[in-house]
Amino acid sequence: MAASAELAGGGVEEAQAEVNPRILEPGASPFGNFPHYSRFHPPEQRLCLLPPELLRRLFPPEGPEKRPILGLDVGCNSGDLSVALYKHFLSLRDGENCSDASRELRLLCCDIDPVLVERAEKECPFPDALTFITLDFMNEKTRKILLSSFLSQFGRSVFDIGFCMSITMWIHLNHGDHGLWEFLAHLSSLCHYLLVEPQPWKCYRAAARRFRKLGLRNFDHFHSLTIRGDMANQIVQILTQDHGMELVCCFGNTSWDRSLLLFRAKYTIEAHPIPESLIEEKERNRLRF
Ligand SMILES: C[S@@+](CC[C@H](N)C(=O)[O-])C[C@H]1O[C@@H](n2cnc3c(N)ncnc32)[C@H](O)[C@@H]1O
Repeated sequence: MAASAELAGGGVEEAQAEVNPRILEPGASPFGNFPHYSRFHPPEQRLCLLPPELLRRLFPPEGPEKRPILGLDVGCNSGDLSVALYKHFLSLRDGENCSDASRELRLLCCDIDPVLVERAEKECPFPDALTFITLDFMNEKTRKILLSSFLSQFGRSVFDIGFCMSITMWIHLNHGDHGLWEFLAHLSSLCHYLLVEPQPWKCYRAAARRFRKLGLRNFDHFHSLTIRGDMANQIVQILTQDHGMELVCCFGNTSWDRSLLLFRAKYTIEAHPIPESLIEEKERNRLRF
């Protein structure tokens, strides 16, 4: 398939790799660990769909106690989206620092690729607010140690919100149906809210085809996946039916046909009802999913 057709169809990273196969070197980015991911999937395409006041609405300040909002960004790549999310939710302009110290936002950003994490650390303009760590999120032992060590600094056991942007396909291709199910289980037990941007099925086909063509690696699991088709809907089903979350709203689709879905843990956050302003959106989406 021509690269432009893939771009139009949403297989952005796959298309880019066809344009310039050297982007894949070394090791063909088997985890989606593309060195310049944000150049071809810019953060702005996602941010423009997200209300900047979202976190303030989800976590209104309570009394004099000023707990920071804690976020987890899984699969942060070289941190461009993490930094952009931080600025977006604090409404910071370029070069500006956090002006609203009353509502601190702290992000723990992790990625499996140490080279990307090193770059993220070096280039981050907000080193006090964003922490970057190398972590294979599927490694239970390391995950528990690193995440609890971060959370315990704040006396917490869970994150307020998790960001899971364009990573589900890579987990699915590398770990199979069960791996995807477990990934979503861990995230839902770790976060009160979860923002997920699933890759659509056409990206899976393109990724498998590209690896096959390059003769570099074929995904062990691709042909045996039974969770397939409408991936956004599949992920909604898993999170809502198996992992005790509810779909709060869909913020729409990016130009590459990836939806931005916000979920909320049903049982752990009685203290944080869904804001009125998101309920209308939720009702609309009940019809869609
Ligand atoms: C396609 S990029 C998405 C980057 C960023 N979230 C965004 O949307 O701009 C997927 C990222 O997930 C990371 N990743 C894949 N499997 C992972 C795992 N098991 N643990 C942690 N990170 C992983 C990859 O290294 C890659 O940087």
